[in-house]
Amino acid sequence: MQHLIRTADFSKEEILELFNDAREFLDMKTRDVLKGKIIVTLFFENSTRTRSAFEIAAKRLGAEIVSLDVGTSSRSKGETIFDTVANINAMKPDAIIMRHSDCGLPGTLVNHVDCPIINAGDGKHAHPTQALLDLFTIVEHFDGQTDGKKVAIVGDVRTSRVAGSNRKLLPRFGMEVCFVAPECFQHESSDHKQHNNISEIIDEVDVVMSLRTQLERHNEIYFQSLNDYAKDYCITKDTFGDRNILLLHPGPVNRNVDISDEMLVDPRNKVLEQVTNGVVVRMAILKKLIKQ
Ligand code: NCD
Repeated sequence: MQHLIRTADFSKEEILELFNDAREFLDMKTRDVLKGKIIVTLFFENSTRTRSAFEIAAKRLGAEIVSLDVGTSSRSKGETIFDTVANINAMKPDAIIMRHSDCGLPGTLVNHVDCPIINAGDGKHAHPTQALLDLFTIVEHFDGQTDGKKVAIVGDVRTSRVAGSNRKLLPRFGMEVCFVAPECFQHESSDHKQHNNISEIIDEVDVVMSLRTQLERHNEIYFQSLNDYAKDYCITKDTFGDRNILLLHPGPVNRNVDISDEMLVDPRNKVLEQVTNGVVVRMAILKKLIKQ
């Protein structure tokens, strides 16, 4: 049995096979690949895209989804997360999809369940399905020619689990990842070049991945207002000029803080294509992990 806790759980070959399936699923037809299977989602943090993309992916494959409403679950009666998961597992679902604010929690549960666990985001650690859909979007955009492409991840790289997963995944496909962030958001890792200002590298990059500032994970106030941050880090028409750069963002976008209104309707922006790809890549992941 395989789980998806971090992108390293899948080999490069497995990822390319996933992408072949994802490409087929782009017709968005409903199939019966997972007919009769039941998938439980446990989201202890807010979600718009990830949760609905998983639900649509499951339904497109013919599976049923049970979404635990954590607000009304027994967690509020004092049950531990381990007991909640043990109880869900005792109902014999075919997979559990989980989002939680504790880094590493989904990984610690894998030895206590009888079905695949899929990490839908654990604190600031990892968000493997987001990184896989980002990679798929990049692969499709460059017709598979990802070798040597330069990707700038811009914004709160220190606290972003999307950056956490992408900085490890994209180099496995020949890409060079650098970070653009103010000092307070820079990453502790020295594996990647870090820049204070996007103008330093804008002429060299093929992809810009903008990130949301993770205010809910900060213990201190770094900026008086997000507008102060936006002055230097918002991606605008002026930032890109007429350069041919692919613009990505995992969502939710803070308009005119992360990306300007104008760039959100610019054809170089593939944010909504990422969302569509989020469904088909998750379909491929569910098929791989559940259909044995
Ligand atoms: C991200 C998340 O929750 O990690 N969103 C997503 O899943 N698409 C990024 C964010 O919240 O900024």
